[in-house]
Amino acid sequence: MQRMLEEIQDLRKQKNAVILAHNYQPTEIIELADYMGDSLQLALKAKEISADILVFCGVRFMAETAAILNPQTRVLLPAQDAGCPMADMITAQQLIHYKQENPDTAIVCYVNSSVEVKAESDICCTSANAVQVLASIPEDKEILFVPDRNLGTWAAKQLGRTIIPWRGFCPIHQWSFDATKVEEVRNRYPDHILLAHPECNASVTDLADEVMSTGGMLKRAAELDKMIIATEKGLPDYLKKIYPQKSIVHLEPQAVCKDMKKISISHVLNSLRFEQYEVKVEADIAARAVKSLDRMLELSR
Ligand code: 13P
Ligand code: SF4
Repeated sequence: MQRMLEEIQDLRKQKNAVILAHNYQPTEIIELADYMGDSLQLALKAKEISADILVFCGVRFMAETAAILNPQTRVLLPAQDAGCPMADMITAQQLIHYKQENPDTAIVCYVNSSVEVKAESDICCTSANAVQVLASIPEDKEILFVPDRNLGTWAAKQLGRTIIPWRGFCPIHQWSFDATKVEEVRNRYPDHILLAHPECNASVTDLADEVMSTGGMLKRAAELDKMIIATEKGLPDYLKKIYPQKSIVHLEPQAVCKDMKKISISHVLNSLRFEQYEVKVEADIAARAVKSLDRMLELSR
């Protein structure tokens, strides 16, 4: 292991590479990364980075977003098949068809979507800025929110608005947590604050003390001593490691995203050694998708 880590250090210098890791990555990957963050933080970082290679430890839609935002840098995804089942719950063809039937509807897409879907959308959002993005759309405009029905419905509720939700969801957040589990764990830890991700279903976000992105949770965890976390396991694992003195309870320890766990240290090493797997986005699709991303980033500055 030590030798692999040393080789990674040598190669990243030699090849002028930067390593980014999403907050759900295994702790050992987060520890070797130059930057960690949620989807928005990593998109902003990817855009400003000046390097020859960016090794993106996350899932495909994140690496694609980085490649679109920073076309000068070669973006590598160390595990070729690290995808996101929610992103696959809508195709560009389905969205094009919807737009033909509803030409006046604004399309807001969660960043957890394909580049083709981003290219067909008016504006993109992440869990950190969904409320802000929806607020930027005129009140009288009908909104289709794709693909995550939970995030879209939750964000609209914060503004007292309604949206038309697509039927997508994150299987991990949708099925790992529910109201019964919240009640059970809260009974055991009555003085803990419940932080939930907005990809959870409404039965959980309605009961949570606070709802936020994974980046928001990291920030909030620095202030709290006792907390229950309703999101993917990578984040509570990392929090437990950096705050051994705090009481951090994962609402459901089986809430694991297999795709987020596909990257190991040897994948990162091979990615740097063989410059694999390069994420390429067709220029015309990228040119359209970047508009929906740029509109979002403009609001987040
Ligand atoms: P954030 O880290 O942006 O909150 O989103 C989590 C997620 O769904 C990644 O798949
Ligand atoms: Fe997709 Fe859910 Fe995994 Fe995030 S946690 S990458 S939304 S399947």
